[in-house]
Amino acid sequence: MSDEFGAVVERVRERVTPDPEERDRLRAVTERLTERTAAAVADLPVEADIVLVGSTARGTWLAGDRDVDLFVQFPPDLDRERLEEYGLRIGRAVLPDGREEYAEHPYTVGEFEGFTVDLVPCYDVADATAIQSAVDRTPFHTAYLEDRLDDDLADAVRVCKAFLKGIGVYGSDLKTRGFSGYLTELLVVEYGGFRPLLDAAADWHPPVELDPEAHGETTFETPLVVVDPTDPGRNVAAVCSAANLARFQHYARELLADPREGLFEPDDPAPLDPAAFREAVADRGTTPVAVRFDAPDVVEDQLWPQLRKSLSGVTDELDRRGFDVFRADAFADDHAVVFAELAVTERPRVERHEGPPVHVRDHAEGFCGAYADDDGVYGPFVADDRYVVERERAFSTATEFLDSDALLEVALGAHVETALEDGYEVLVGDETAVLCEEFGPALARYFSPKP
Ligand code: CTP
Ligand code: MG
Repeated sequence: MSDEFGAVVERVRERVTPDPEERDRLRAVTERLTERTAAAVADLPVEADIVLVGSTARGTWLAGDRDVDLFVQFPPDLDRERLEEYGLRIGRAVLPDGREEYAEHPYTVGEFEGFTVDLVPCYDVADATAIQSAVDRTPFHTAYLEDRLDDDLADAVRVCKAFLKGIGVYGSDLKTRGFSGYLTELLVVEYGGFRPLLDAAADWHPPVELDPEAHGETTFETPLVVVDPTDPGRNVAAVCSAANLARFQHYARELLADPREGLFEPDDPAPLDPAAFREAVADRGTTPVAVRFDAPDVVEDQLWPQLRKSLSGVTDELDRRGFDVFRADAFADDHAVVFAELAVTERPRVERHEGPPVHVRDHAEGFCGAYADDDGVYGPFVADDRYVVERERAFSTATEFLDSDALLEVALGAHVETALEDGYEVLVGDETAVLCEEFGPALARYFSPKP
């Protein structure tokens, strides 16, 4: 192969590598941040260590990223309540305009000299298998990778992160369900570079299991398993979805076959306008429907699993009621939307309802008795060996169903259910085009699907 691949990677490397000025600035900022944090720790009745973790500690952040992860490690015998209290007290002292966020326990996020700082309290445990809180592992990740990343591998990590961002699969948040920074670093280290990782990924047959420190037998069941070198009980790739793994494989082949920088740049489509929306729908001959409601006031990591659950709850029920769902998606901003493109929106007034086989005497007699005097039904009659009736369908249009209380009976996320109880709007057909105002880019992606 010509070295087109090498040339593309080199250009990307230049773009994503922080220059000496950026590195110096980051170093100076983290020094002042650490000093300020140390001063806040000194006011507490316990000792604690301050460690810089994450990509800024390992030199694997992307040029222009402004995230700093600073951890405060408390003695493991400190009780949980004190840890939370001290953690937040330090947070207020160091980041007075910060806000509290909540993972397994609270931490503080705020601005410091132009950087976004996550200030996280954790326990100073002996090793990652002795963790008391999930974040206690993080300092071990940093130590493990610091020992294994040289400058070339750090470059490869940055290029790989840029690629994963470009193809839309970077991030272990529950909206994305892709590759975390730590996972990316482990993959690059395991294969010894970006190119060898791509070569391998192009031929993967999921489930793919990697166990860098040969911890042995596991019971993880995700499509990609990477056993945490610092903790055999954890699968670093636990949230990576089958679709994102498949996307990574697709674009790995694509980049190898036709190297280009465009694959390292996130695709940012122009919002779809209502006219183009109506045109796409007319062209496809489908009928869009949408349930729109106020987005529940919860963090994205809570919202997205609930939205996905609600999306499948609603679409499964539409299917079950005979309104065939062609494709569907969920969107969220100020509003949240369950959007479904239907192949069938209307069914006859009657539906077929099968009873028991005639030879199952008890049930058969019960069924026949129940429907015998019902004027509203056709039958019972016999088809093959069973009784059948044709009775009135509960909802003969998808809209009637979506507008009814039956919508609230489907499997929904808890906060989505509450939000729907407070009220929602059903949009059908061309009306759905109003969604372009709030979700134009997402709808543009919906109607121009790519791997
Ligand atoms: N971490 C983790 N599991 C997660 C998220 C984070 O173990 N799901 C730990 C990792 O050790 C990670 C650190 O927390 O390195 C900081 O997380 P984050 O800032 O999300 O990732 P970075 O590795 O810093 O990568 P990025 O360049 O994207 O900031
Ligand atoms: Mg980070």
